[in-house]
Amino acid sequence: MDREKRFLGYRQYNASRVIRFGTTMHNCLSYQALKNKQWQETQLDDWDIFYADTGWIHENLPYSGFASGGLRLNEWQKVNHFPNHVELTRKDLMVKNLKRMKKQCEKEGRHEDAKAFDFFPQTYHMPSESSLFIRQFKEIKAAGENQIWIMKPIGRAQGKGIFLVNKLSQIETWLKERGNQKAENCCYEDYVCQRYLDNPLLVSGRKFDIRIYALCLSYVPLKVYLYRDGFARFSNTRFNTNKDELTNNYIHLTNHAIQKQDASYNAKVTDLKWPIRSLRRYLSATFGPEVENKVFDDIQQLIINSLISVQKVIINDRHCFELYGYDIMISDDLKPWLIEVNASPSMSADTDSDRKLKLGLLDDMFSVVDVEQKWTSFGKTPPRIGGFDVIYDENGPVKQHANSSVHSFLGCANDRERQLQQLQKQWEACNSRAMSGTDSHEDLAMEHIVNGTKASNGTKTLHTAAFR
Ligand SMILES: Nc1ncnc2c1ncn2[C@@H]1O[C@H](COP(=O)(O)OP(=O)(O)O)[C@@H](O)[C@H]1O
Ligand SMILES: [Mg+2]
Repeated sequence: MDREKRFLGYRQYNASRVIRFGTTMHNCLSYQALKNKQWQETQLDDWDIFYADTGWIHENLPYSGFASGGLRLNEWQKVNHFPNHVELTRKDLMVKNLKRMKKQCEKEGRHEDAKAFDFFPQTYHMPSESSLFIRQFKEIKAAGENQIWIMKPIGRAQGKGIFLVNKLSQIETWLKERGNQKAENCCYEDYVCQRYLDNPLLVSGRKFDIRIYALCLSYVPLKVYLYRDGFARFSNTRFNTNKDELTNNYIHLTNHAIQKQDASYNAKVTDLKWPIRSLRRYLSATFGPEVENKVFDDIQQLIINSLISVQKVIINDRHCFELYGYDIMISDDLKPWLIEVNASPSMSADTDSDRKLKLGLLDDMFSVVDVEQKWTSFGKTPPRIGGFDVIYDENGPVKQHANSSVHSFLGCANDRERQLQQLQKQWEACNSRAMSGTDSHEDLAMEHIVNGTKASNGTKTLHTAAFR
């Protein structure tokens, strides 16, 4: 399609119809965010975007994709999950894919690349790998090392069903009880048994993990945006690994759903969530800006590598996009670890700042996904939209400006409203030029919007104003 037709297409599309959405989720902020857009809810199949829970996806989007079963979709219709997202978002499958990737690199003699996948704790699928686990447990014991493992159901969330073990007999009992459940034909589930990170980085003696949001627009080619905002979630109780406290979830599990049940927690007195920006400042003040930058670079690289590990297995349906909620921990040697990836990160809020963050995140997500077909008319999505920055596109990882000391925008200032206003102005200017006929500046302006500015050395750069 030539450019003029594309613009015309956009105008007709805009003038003739309001955006329609379908959803299965009415009780969370995603519904509010869709309504805030002034879009119209529909019960029919004429939606532009369907915001679904994963259950709907499994019923309506077969593993063979939309094209070959279930709904037949129009070019512009979008859905918020990939059909087999579980390859990344189920705890056992994520580790299986990461292990496979690492092995493949080793087989091909790419040892440095293989090392880049050393960001997940040692993990076994239970019960299928229980013999391997038992052998490993005995070896560690024989070496005189202390060991704690964490047992997690493969498909649950919010810390449910999780427990810690430090004795083989506990696993043997679990296997036996599970066997009995199976015999009684009642509901039983598979677990992963994962090495427990017993040396987490602590802040004021408390353990935390970090929730980060990554938006994948496509797997082939891989196109990923990372949101600047997110938060560290702290435990309310000081950390220790005392044997008699291993059953205390308030020490070991940082899920906010768990922590807020703690009777000694008072939301009015203690805030258990820190914006990533505060964590960045804390790391900079405690360990220096170089260390701070490295931690966030490593986190960004870890996210890219986790997506690369499933690139070949995820069905790349062009109607799909996905907003992943990453859980990341940092050990006291300042190494980030991938704990899990959530397909449906919590979209509830218990504070005003939580609500603001999530509504902004969802609003920006709809803009990046381009439900309104705004960027489609230019053939490319801008490198920054609101709080989202592109981190990987058809040319590979997106490099920041060579002169900038900041490599990842994660945890940097999220001046999303100002940026969106600026982007809208630029877009309107380009649009009116295109509508009024040829303009020699148009191409330049478009270059500016969709590609960012060009550095003198020709590498692609992002707008780097006001990092902190
Ligand atoms: N390997 C681990 N080492 C230390 N803590 C862990 C580990 N795995 C999980 N945790 C803790 O348990 C919490 C819940 O684990 P997670 O894998 O995210 O399961 P869920 O789906 O229930 O949130 C994490 O937020 C973290 O605080
Ligand atoms: Mg979690």
